[in-house]
Amino acid sequence: MSGFTAPHCGSLRASDAGKEVELYGWVARRRDHGGVTFLDLRDRWGIVQVVVRTASVASDVRGEYVVRARGAVRRRPAGAENPKLATGDIEVDVEELEVISKSKTPPFEIEDDVAADEATRLKYRYLDIRRPKMARTLELRHRVVQAIHRYMSAREFIEIETPMLLKGTPEGSRDFIVPSRLHPGEFFALPQSPQQLKQLLMVAGIGRYYQIARCLRDEDLRADRVVEITQLDVEMSFCTEEDVLGLIEGLWASVWKDVLGIDIKTPFPRLDMQEALLKYGTDKPDLRYDLVIADVSDALRETSATVFRSALDAGGVVRCFSVPGGKDMSRRELDELALMAKGAGAKGLAWIPGPLDRHLAEGEVSAIMAAAGAGVDDLVLVVADRRRKAETVMGLLRREIARRRKLARQGEWQFLWVYPMYLFEEDDQGNLTYGHHPFTSPWPEDMDLLGTRPYDVRARAYDCVLNGVEVSGGSIRIHDRELQERVFEILGMSREKIRAQFGHLLDAFEYGVPPHGGIAAGIDRLMMAIIGTENIRDVVAFPKTQSHQDLMLGAPSPVDQALLDELHIKVVPPTKPS
Ligand code: AMO
Repeated sequence: MSGFTAPHCGSLRASDAGKEVELYGWVARRRDHGGVTFLDLRDRWGIVQVVVRTASVASDVRGEYVVRARGAVRRRPAGAENPKLATGDIEVDVEELEVISKSKTPPFEIEDDVAADEATRLKYRYLDIRRPKMARTLELRHRVVQAIHRYMSAREFIEIETPMLLKGTPEGSRDFIVPSRLHPGEFFALPQSPQQLKQLLMVAGIGRYYQIARCLRDEDLRADRVVEITQLDVEMSFCTEEDVLGLIEGLWASVWKDVLGIDIKTPFPRLDMQEALLKYGTDKPDLRYDLVIADVSDALRETSATVFRSALDAGGVVRCFSVPGGKDMSRRELDELALMAKGAGAKGLAWIPGPLDRHLAEGEVSAIMAAAGAGVDDLVLVVADRRRKAETVMGLLRREIARRRKLARQGEWQFLWVYPMYLFEEDDQGNLTYGHHPFTSPWPEDMDLLGTRPYDVRARAYDCVLNGVEVSGGSIRIHDRELQERVFEILGMSREKIRAQFGHLLDAFEYGVPPHGGIAAGIDRLMMAIIGTENIRDVVAFPKTQSHQDLMLGAPSPVDQALLDELHIKVVPPTKPS
């Protein structure tokens, strides 16, 4: 027996008719018809029908048993073909059938349209991966990564592995830490990204580096986030933004061509951050639908509609967009949208035509309609608020309208760059923090604003967005010690902290450092876009749940006291809220 050289169940075709084959697979389905047993045999390559004509041979074969079947491939009788199966023109007439391994009844049907909840699928992930759809996704992922390797190698980038046990590197998440046994009380951090190491490789003269890197970020999970990310991580020396953007555009074009057989158009359109926030209310706009937001603050400066006037008097803005054919939207739906806007912190939502019209001058209504590009059958949604709030709420409504009205054009690949971005942003507590990461170079013309108006400083940073998903982000880096120290200081770090956390990088900057820049692309997010799922766990073999658990392994789990003692770790159980 050599299953390794045997043909795959799913790869047999009409051209194999007449061949004698030995197959290995799982029994996907069993049907008995007047003494003849039909078995669907499944392997990673697909499903093939085998026919057992002697009842006793198949009598003890059940679903998910692993079997060996030997027999002749033959064309199915005319009319009995199954166009839904790639192997549907043939079947295998079985002469010999051996049960290799039995199976309990699985907790869910192993088929593409699985009915089980996600927790059950994750607990039995090895059964879930048996589903042809999951197996196909994992194979596609492999092909995407192989195409990336080919493209990068052909351009003289070399893959270098960087360590998993590191010191913290800021990427905006919490570090996962690992205690050191030999240095009690001290910890390694798992990489949030290889950022500093790839920059040090540029100081080392490597020039062009890449890595399919595993990154670990202890962040709150959402539908498009995992804690263990796979990134294509890239860094290059003596480059400009154009080099990096061109490299990545060429990369996606070649992956799409190689793997999907699709030509995508390059170069990708570019939006600066301000324009993205104004027109789409987000820094990752989905351009598969057209809803474009307009600012109508100027047209309403003198309005007597108090909701708009008070927002404008407080320094805010009025923004709107048109919902095509939205005039007949029900009051109930509008109330739902208003509730959603309020949930996102807006004071309210207005619409035109609507109750507010009588407070607006005729010229104001027509100015809003014109700015939104609205026709007679359309409805315009209007929000007045602080600029950032108005942007967020409009962005949210734009997405929601597109979702409800199914406006996204299927089959389109809408890539774009958001560039330049801003160097700093406000965190949830209203403190200044970095936009991309603290190693990003300020825009040369904005250097004077560093001390006075830091929020206005643009960054030499770029994000690549595909169909509304941020699939990669990077920047040209600071390569000057003084400037790097200054940025750390603006971020509120003390001299001591800078020394302790980043002394190695600053020291390296004293030994001949080439200008450099790079990018990282999230392979998980890319795969989500490619297969068209909103659930990142659909593209990862063994993902964690939203609450950071591996349901199959039962991790995390307590460890032996002896190990904790060796690590000098004492667990203080959390106090239960009373
Ligand atoms: P950044 O943090 O933007 O940049 O990450 C790069 C890309 O990785 C993906 N990504 C994620 N995917 C899933 N779950 C997550 N939790 C998650 N976090 C990030 C995104 C993102 O665009 N060192 C820099 C890159 C650089 O400057 O070169 C970095 O890691 O697709």
